[in-house]
Amino acid sequence: MTKYPLYLAPMEDVTDPAFRMLCKRFGADRVYTEFINADALVRDVNAATRKLSISDYERPVAIQIYGRDAESMAEAAKIVEQAHPDVIDINFGCPVKKVAGKGAGAGLLRDVPRMLDIAKAVVNAVSIPVTAKTRLGWDKDSLYAPLYEGATQGQAFIVDLAEALQDCGIQELAIHGRTRAQMYTGEADWSLIGAVKNNPRMHIPIIGNGDVTTPARAKECFDRYGVDAIMIGRASFGCPWIFDDMKQFLNAPHSSLPVRSMQWCVDILKEHVIQSIQYIGDERKGIVHSRRHFANSPIFKGLADFKQTRIALLRAETQDEVFSIMDSIVDQWGH
Ligand SMILES: Cc1cc2nc3c(=O)[nH]c(=O)nc-3n(C[C@H](O)[C@H](O)[C@H](O)COP(=O)(O)O)c2cc1C
Repeated sequence: MTKYPLYLAPMEDVTDPAFRMLCKRFGADRVYTEFINADALVRDVNAATRKLSISDYERPVAIQIYGRDAESMAEAAKIVEQAHPDVIDINFGCPVKKVAGKGAGAGLLRDVPRMLDIAKAVVNAVSIPVTAKTRLGWDKDSLYAPLYEGATQGQAFIVDLAEALQDCGIQELAIHGRTRAQMYTGEADWSLIGAVKNNPRMHIPIIGNGDVTTPARAKECFDRYGVDAIMIGRASFGCPWIFDDMKQFLNAPHSSLPVRSMQWCVDILKEHVIQSIQYIGDERKGIVHSRRHFANSPIFKGLADFKQTRIALLRAETQDEVFSIMDSIVDQWGH
């Protein structure tokens, strides 16, 4: 086990095989698929079963599922097990209306008995490790609420919840330091993640998540909160090498970070475009799919007079167009 494990967070429409492979190459210690709807898996919907495709190269890999019904989650977990992931992860944290509003994902933070039933059912259905990912609570008023009506209130909601999930046989717990109500706004509160980790009754690994965007912040989170691993989400957009940057810093904080030339970074982004097109099987769709990475890549941030080029890059619809704009960026802004 590496000393500072860094995981690529599960992200819908982002952590497909093409992106996972790149992050893996740059040192991600575990990658997660996009979340997959359990009912759709059970109904054998093509868009869902397609997301089960994993390869040996990316191991260890976790496949994440979500749903609100224990029986169908257990059935979906059995289907997932046949794809042979290293881990099955349950999503108890998705805040979006179409998921949480229907009582799945973070919606289960308002129905903890059901959440625990799902956790138990999935654990009992399969023989590979089952992990879970959740948030601090439903909203700020529930941060110190009892887990459910009639439960004795011990500590913070998430501290009690983590214990309860551990008791269900969940083998690792990832915590995004926000409430459902926060969605992605405000700042992740790591102090409650630390409280879970420091609870002497917790013995499963705790994975911290939320706003870890720099190597220095990753080190601070390991050092201050004692988490067993950190999960990186948005900071990986257009920057799969962030895992390598963080690893180098974590292992040798006093040495200087690798210098990445614009040409080198652009070559990686181009490779990602090629892989996306290949995975999706359609040039235009593959490019549209890559735009999130162009729009958020740190290599294009802060460039003087970049606006028109950025617009052109985000409008380009063919690989040739994208690559020639990228080449012109290297010519004009490269170093
Ligand atoms: C575009 C996008 C898609 C996401 N999809 C999922 C998902 O499928 N499953 C999940 O557990 N979390 C999902 N998340 C949440 C991330 O895994 C992570 O918890 C969140 O982005 C906070 O981490 P960060 O600050 O490092 O980005 C998603 C986040 C984003 C931005």
